[in-house]
This record gives sequence, structure tokens and C-alpha cells, in this order.
Amino acid sequence: MHKPLSPGKTIGILGGGQLGRMTALAAANFGYRCYIMEPQRNCPASFVSAGHLTAEYDSEAALLKFASQVDVVTLEFENVPVKSLKFLESQVPVYPGPQALEISQDRVREKSFLNDQGIETAPWAPVKNAEDLDIAVDKIGRPSVLKTTRFGYDGKGQAKIGPETDAIAAWREVGSGYCILEGFVDFTMEISVIVARSVTGEIKAYEPVENRHANHILDETHVPASITAEQTEQAMEIATKAVEAMDLVGLLAVEMFVAADGRILVNEVAPRPHNSGHWTMDACVTSQFEQLVRAVCGLPLGSTQRLGRAKMKNLLGRDVHKWEEYLAEPGAHLHLYGKADVKAGRKMGHVNWLFQDDDA
Ligand SMILES: Nc1ncnc2c1ncn2[C@@H]1O[C@H](COP(=O)(O)OP(=O)(O)O)[C@@H](O)[C@H]1O
Ligand SMILES: [Mg+2]
Repeated sequence: MHKPLSPGKTIGILGGGQLGRMTALAAANFGYRCYIMEPQRNCPASFVSAGHLTAEYDSEAALLKFASQVDVVTLEFENVPVKSLKFLESQVPVYPGPQALEISQDRVREKSFLNDQGIETAPWAPVKNAEDLDIAVDKIGRPSVLKTTRFGYDGKGQAKIGPETDAIAAWREVGSGYCILEGFVDFTMEISVIVARSVTGEIKAYEPVENRHANHILDETHVPASITAEQTEQAMEIATKAVEAMDLVGLLAVEMFVAADGRILVNEVAPRPHNSGHWTMDACVTSQFEQLVRAVCGLPLGSTQRLGRAKMKNLLGRDVHKWEEYLAEPGAHLHLYGKADVKAGRKMGHVNWLFQDDDA
């Protein structure tokens, strides 16, 4: 039996972006304190947390100091070095642990792992050198997408290989490093499922949502996704299977494609709160952030029930200047992240809507 962490204790969060900020806000509702470790000063989470350790993730001295201040560690950024997590784990419980990060940090490991569980993805091949690239293009065909195995986000580190593309030039474009070539999925929709698994082993998934991207960045999430009941069930089963197989405690966000032939293929997984789960803050009994806190503190997981039809819109870059308009709109729930610099494509905040008009 795990004893739940009692209110008043401190949750350490690796990463201080908006996901950490919203986790800290949810934790505060239950009387926990949050202590952030993040190299950037004035990061979004620092303004709402009890403390902020400004340090690099690979500093052992900093990790020791961090561990001494907290009762449990979680993360909002999946590129923390695995070595650092292993070190932290020798001092304090860390959820999710290093094994989950090892899988999700590397697209080749991630896809092999998922396929080993019988979870379908696009066909893929690893590319370490020019010879591999030729073999991969022959095997996977065109169109396909070449992606760096590590550190990609918002479509960065990716190049499409069309019928006429010089594959070597595409590889150069993404840095000529270790890559994965994936078959281009002819999808009708992108969906995602966020699933929580607690220290106690309890699992709860949110229903699948539809994600619409603009310039490779999430623009809007719509709930419910317009898919069949079977597809809904299948997507939730896939996410549940993945979180169990990864032995992950915390949240797992599973991005999927609904292929033109109706199959559901997993694109990638993230072991943390996810942008496509922001709608839960205003349209679910339990938000994804509260659920993460519950999971890592060993509290009972909250209900994932949806309160109605919902929509989330990201405020990217200059969109944030419309904050007063959204505030004036009845029913629009504004969330801003406290970022001082407005840059094109930067996630500055989001707006949620909950509608009571149909199939809640
Ligand atoms: N194999 C693929 N087939 C078709 N579209 C893809 C494929 N892989 C990625 N995409 C598109 O690019 C977007 C970003 O790719 P993703 O692998 O999720 O990387 P990131 O880490 O940048 O989110 C996806 O949401 C999807 O729209
Ligand atoms: Mg993605």
C-alpha cells in the first residue's frame, strides 16, 4: 500500500513552462507546494510556485539540492537527461521514471516499443547514415517524413520526402544525424488520448479529442472527436495499453492518426501534460493537471467525465493581444502563461469553451 502524500508536502517539477505552471496551480488547490527546477529565469511556472531552482538539468549539485527540497518529483519537459532522472530517483520518488523517458525521448525506441506491444504506427525505418537512407526510402517509399530521432517539437526537425525530393538534401536539412523515416499517413484526422496512471496502479483515460494544427503547431482541440464509438474505444484501449507497458506513473499523452481506411495509428507519446488536454481545465470534472497531481501523490484519480462539448484554441504569438476580447466574451475561459516576450508561434496562452448544446 502506498501512503498518499499529504497536503503541505512539496512536489518538485522539472521544467518551468506553461505545463509546469498549470500543474503548480492545480497542486496549490490541494495545499501542496511546488518547487521548480528549470534553467530559464522568470519561466512561467516560477511566478506561481513556492520556489525556483535556476539550474541546468545535468548539474548533480543542483539535482541534490532539488531532491532535498521536495517529497516527489514529476516533470513537464520530456527532454530532461535520463541520467539526471536516475540520479534523482536515488534520492526521491520520480514519476514518470527514467524508463518511460528513455522510450519517449527517442522516436526509434518509441516506435519499436509500441510495435512490440502490438500497437500500430506508420511503417518506419532507422536512418544513421547515407546508406541507411537509401535502404529506408526503398523500404518505406514516398511520400514519407524524415524526422530527427530526438528533440523534435512543433514539427521542428522534420522534412517531407515527396516524389521528386532529393533524400540526401532532406537529410541534410534536418542536420544529417540519427533519424527515422516514416511512411506518410493519409489521415482524415489527428486525435489524442491522455491517460493517467497513479502510484497505486489505478488508470483513467480521457476520451479522444480532435486536434487541428496550423504550421505544425496545435491550433485547436475539439471535443468530442467525430469518430465512431469503436474508434473511441480503440483509441482509449491503445493509450491504456501503452501506459501500462511503459510502467509509467503520471500522465501519458498519445497522439494518433485516424487513417483514411479507419485504422488508428499512434504517432508519438509524451509522458507529461499535453496541449491537447488543456480543454479539461474548464470542460471536465478533473483537469489533466489535477489528475497528474493526484497520480504522482498517490491520491485517488479524479473523474474524467466531460461536462459538455468543448473547444480549446491556442493563443500563439500576437494572438495574445486579443486577451481583452476573450475576457469580454461570455463563456470564454482565458488562460495566459505570463510570458513577457511575444514571438511568432510561441504558445502564450489558450482559451477554452464549454458548450451545452449537444451530445454532452
Ligand atoms: N508519418 C506522418 N504522416 C503524416 N503526417 C505526419 C507524420 N508524422 C508527422 N506528421 C504531421 O506532423 C505533425 C508533427 O509531427 P510529430 O511527429 O507529432 O512531431 P512533433 O514532435 O513536432 O509534435 C503531426 O501532428 C502531423 O500533423
Ligand atoms: Mg506531435
